[in-house]
Amino acid sequence: MAKKETSGKSAKADKEYSASPAGERFAIPDRQQYALEFKRVEKLVNRAREEGREIVVVMGVGFVGAVMAAIVADTVDKKGRPAKFVIGCQRPSTRSYWKIPLLNKGQSPVKAEDPEVDELISRCVLKKKTLTATYNSDCLKFADCVVVDVQCDYKKQDLGNMRTGEADMAALEATMRTIGEKIPHKCLVLIETTVAPGTTEFVAWPILKKAFASRGIKSIPLLAHSFERVMPGKDYVSSIRDFWRVCSGCNAASRRRVEKFLREVLNIKEYPLTVLDRPIESETTKIVENSYRATILAFLNEWSLFAERNGVDLDKVIKAIKVRPTHSNIIFPGPGIGGYCLPKDGGLGVWAYRHILGFEDGDSVFRITPAAIDINDTRALHVAELTRDTLRNMGRCVAGANVLLCGASYRQDVGDTRYSGSEVIVRKLTEMGAEMRVHDPYVEHWYELEKQDTYPAPGRSWKRFFRNQEGLTETKVQKDLRLSLKGAEAVIFAVPHAPYLELEPDNVARWAGAPLAVIDCFGILPDDKIRRYFELGCEVKALGRGHIQRIREEVRKRKRH
Ligand SMILES: NC(=O)c1ccc[n+]([C@@H]2O[C@H](COP(=O)([O-])OP(=O)(O)OC[C@H]3O[C@@H](n4cnc5c(N)ncnc54)[C@H](O)[C@@H]3O)[C@@H](O)[C@H]2O)c1
Repeated sequence: MAKKETSGKSAKADKEYSASPAGERFAIPDRQQYALEFKRVEKLVNRAREEGREIVVVMGVGFVGAVMAAIVADTVDKKGRPAKFVIGCQRPSTRSYWKIPLLNKGQSPVKAEDPEVDELISRCVLKKKTLTATYNSDCLKFADCVVVDVQCDYKKQDLGNMRTGEADMAALEATMRTIGEKIPHKCLVLIETTVAPGTTEFVAWPILKKAFASRGIKSIPLLAHSFERVMPGKDYVSSIRDFWRVCSGCNAASRRRVEKFLREVLNIKEYPLTVLDRPIESETTKIVENSYRATILAFLNEWSLFAERNGVDLDKVIKAIKVRPTHSNIIFPGPGIGGYCLPKDGGLGVWAYRHILGFEDGDSVFRITPAAIDINDTRALHVAELTRDTLRNMGRCVAGANVLLCGASYRQDVGDTRYSGSEVIVRKLTEMGAEMRVHDPYVEHWYELEKQDTYPAPGRSWKRFFRNQEGLTETKVQKDLRLSLKGAEAVIFAVPHAPYLELEPDNVARWAGAPLAVIDCFGILPDDKIRRYFELGCEVKALGRGHIQRIREEVRKRKRH
């Protein structure tokens, strides 16, 4: 998309800009604009108050906050009239400011496969006029309720050793300070951010109490916690609104208020609320449920290697186990785990045990959760080994080979690339000298590669764990599979996106122009397709699928006779 100037003012050389992922640039507001912006918001708030609406401020309009803000803004009372006026608030940083003007145009700052995201945001901003966004955190002065959706990252220092990492609470602590300085004393603050257990009561509450004390406010701040279970994909909105929630409050009054708020904005009738006694319990619920998921996937890594080396197809083993209702959530482990939450949440828990809760024996208490994260973070390295070996079986060398990666996202049929195993595959094979190409039907830009010097933050890219990565900024995600395959010597099916499941081996080999190495990371290929690839002169290897060797021998034997 062409870069266009959206600020009304002429571009001064010293002006700072924030660019949206599509390349649209917005001038960062200067100090003089803050007063005007406050007046704009105040006018909207006054009108909303006249209409009897509650004022809700959502801090952080990222993946979760932008959609949560719209869900709250869409709430109606018993008579069907809008019940809330929502202000999405975001710092005007060069990295994030663009989300505000975009939202105020009725456009979603989040790209989702769910069409309801765009509809919901456009309806609330442009039609119902129940949602606005601002960079001026003075809007907190109007809030009846503040929902906190800023990030709380876990910064890993090494690949495959999460114990050397640490929680990055800076954004959350800064947000809590700002909130404490500005909210009315009866305002409910609801932390939705996934936090290290203990954060709400032992980090956030003291910050609010201190701020209240310095403002001479006698009452105790109302603070609650209720984590998000949002899932990227075509049911994005539903996964926030129509899904079971867990909540808790720092005291009885906060608990009552958070229950009331969630009852009003979410589909609690069909998806009942679980109310826990203390925030540390709801915080721990989130961390345990994500660590559990990470652990069952990591545990299968060793059985995946066992299967590869002993003629066993882990895919069939898992399907055979799954029929037992007690084991129905066992899933095939792909190349790593990915998504924003699963790779980090266990880390927040282990870190909190020592740094918030004060225990020194974390290394002996926490043995499974760190191991699970480390295994998941490094599982994709094995895909590079399989690619090397498959090419070797064809008499080729990985260095200089044209390798096509199919699937950049972390999960099937979504465009979310955060911490995807595919990134590790590309980085490792690039380090080994392969010429990588990428295809993904759902991903437009692979920012982890294209903007690796600044994304997710300067010095934080996984680039730092590998050599020879500079050229990856030129990565273009291809959309035409036929063209992407042309001349490829290896193809890696990294994610089971729907279009890959339908691919016929004859077409793949034809489009490549010659037999090629095929690597299956997700149990994508049924046996008849594996057989066909061998008949076509291709080589096949797969994560966890040792029976492929048997199919190979059968085809060879048949060819000999
Ligand atoms: N994305 C998911 O799939 C998902 C699922 C479940 C839970 N969560 C949790 O939800 C939380 C938010 O995640 P996300 O994916 O929306 O993150 P995100 O990075 O997309 O959004 C966070 C936003 O907060 C803003 N921000 C940072 N500091 C701020 C400040 N001081 N004031 C105002 N805004 C500030 C950032 O600029 C950013 O836009 C995290 O704790 C995450 O673990 C996310």
